[in-house]
Formats: sequence, C-alpha cells, structure tokens
Amino acid sequence: MKGRWQAILLAAGIMAAGSFGSARAADIAEGKRLYRVHCESCHGERGQPEMPGAANFSKGEGLMKTDAQLRTHMTNGGRMCPSFAGVIMDRGMFDLALFLRTLF
Ligand code: HEC
Repeated sequence: MKGRWQAILLAAGIMAAGSFGSARAADIAEGKRLYRVHCESCHGERGQPEMPGAANFSKGEGLMKTDAQLRTHMTNGGRMCPSFAGVIMDRGMFDLALFLRTLF
C-alpha cells in the first residue's frame, strides 16, 4: 500500500514540475546568445563599447531601467541603437534584459 501512494505522489510531483516548467522564466543563456548575434558588435563582448557613444553596460549605462523599459528601447531603438522589432521576439528581449545586467 505504501509503495502505491509513493508512486501517486511522485507522479503528481512530476506533473507539477512540468507545469512550472511551461511558465518559462527568462533564460540567461538565450540572452547571451542573442547579445552575441545582435548587440556585441557595438556594445562589446563584456559590455565595453566597440562603437563610440554606445551605452557602456560594464558601467551600468542604460541599465537603470525596468525589464519592460529595456524591451521598449529594443523595440523602438535609439538615435544610433537599431530597432529590433520583428527581429527579436518579446521573450528574447526579456532574456536579453536579464543578460545585460550580468555585464555590469
Ligand atoms: C549599431 C550599433 C548598435 C547595436 C547593434 C546595438 N546598439 Fe544599443 N546602443 C547603441 C548606441 C550608439 C547607443 C547610445 C544611445 C543611442 O544612440 O541610442 C545604444 C544604447 C543602448 C541602450 C541604452 C539606452 C538608454 O536609454 O540609455 C541599451 C539598453 C541598448 N543600447 C541595448 C542594445 C541591445 C539589447 C542591443 C542588441 C539587441 C543593441 N543595443 C544593439 C548602438 C548599438
């Protein structure tokens, strides 16, 4: 009898873990990959800009914003910073927001 209840609880645990997994948290590895492809050429591998005038993420420049504000910047672009609307999905922008903060 004991074994059967353990099996049922285990199954319930696996189902719960599965449903938490689908509410996806921002993925830092994906943020890093997107940064390499889309941002590094100007903002630099470690957030020290390659392009004069680009925000220096290693000094926290441009990062004193909420994730939603960062997403708005990526969507609209800046004066020289390109717009990534239609290029990077919303969830990718949140992955990027998480990764950008690791450069500071
Ligand atoms: C062509 C060069 C270039 C690329 C590529 C680029 N940026 Fe920028 N970025 C800039 C420049 C220059 C600035 C300084 C402000 C401006 O001109 O918009 C900047 C500023 C920023 C800021 C600060 C905005 C603020 O309000 O202070 C953020 C955040 C940012 N970029 C994020 C990104 C992300 C994320 C990517 C990749 C998805 C990216 N940038 C790609 C050039 C670039």
